[in-house]
Amino acid sequence: MPLKIEPILPRFGAICTGLDLTRKLSLEEVKLVTDAMDMWGVTVWPETGLNDETQIAFSRNFGYLERVPWRAGVNYRLPYRELFDASNLNIEGNITQDPSALQYRKGDRLWHTDSAFMEKRTSYSMLLAHQLPPEGGETGFADTRSAYDDLPQELKDLLEDKVGINSLWWSRKMAGADISDEEIYERPLAKHPLVHVHKGSGCKALFIAAHTMDIEGMDKTEGRALIRQLIEHCTQPQYVFEHSWSVGDMVIWDNLCTMHRAGEYAYDLYKRDLRRTTVREGTEPHMLESGDDPFTELFSSSPKSVDIQSARAAGR
Ligand SMILES: [Fe+2]
Repeated sequence: MPLKIEPILPRFGAICTGLDLTRKLSLEEVKLVTDAMDMWGVTVWPETGLNDETQIAFSRNFGYLERVPWRAGVNYRLPYRELFDASNLNIEGNITQDPSALQYRKGDRLWHTDSAFMEKRTSYSMLLAHQLPPEGGETGFADTRSAYDDLPQELKDLLEDKVGINSLWWSRKMAGADISDEEIYERPLAKHPLVHVHKGSGCKALFIAAHTMDIEGMDKTEGRALIRQLIEHCTQPQYVFEHSWSVGDMVIWDNLCTMHRAGEYAYDLYKRDLRRTTVREGTEPHMLESGDDPFTELFSSSPKSVDIQSARAAGR
């Protein structure tokens, strides 16, 4: 059956059916997926029939997969480092009661792009639903290409050469974690232009996230107000849709032209098990063979007050 694409918003998001993602794809089929992603930014694939192994195999078509930081003596729920655990479950598969894990996840409910706090950005995130609460937990997506297009020219000119300073801990601070600006600046930071050309489409997009703390060269108060203004602009209803999950759904989003946020649900009552594979931007051949990953370096250089076990649950 040929690939069928149904738009969700006129310029953003599409439901894709007709392609069996569980088997090895031909180069032509991979290009169909890439083209759909370049066009729509987010693609929703219902009833995929994917499991851990086939999700990872499918994801490898699009580049180097980021890996969960590995710590000696820490046990992980999922069997592959290529799977980020976006569940509310502990190692035994029960709902976690760990306050640091719950606090950490609050940051995912802010609009963000995955791994914006890394020097090497993430392109695609691919999230597969294994188990869901009876209600809630929708994931919201925002179109940062259309949002950029609609900015007044004056603001586009202002943003043209601006660079954002990103930190994982800034988003956690915004979600209520007790951490000072000084402590954040002592930890790893990543700088990315606030506006960039999205390679797949040739269109300009905003690259902002809850991780974006300051704007280089700008007064902190002014820069933070501008970041808030841009996030509010991008998340107006005309740029946003929400996905209500069913088990077996996989949603792919391109972090370089979107933002997303996790929806609320009764996380202390219901299990929610979603697993994410994550592709590094600009994959080069040597990266495909290397076991090294900057995630490990970033988290290993961080103070132990940050809970690494729960850090793996970053992203939805
Ligand atoms: Fe995320």
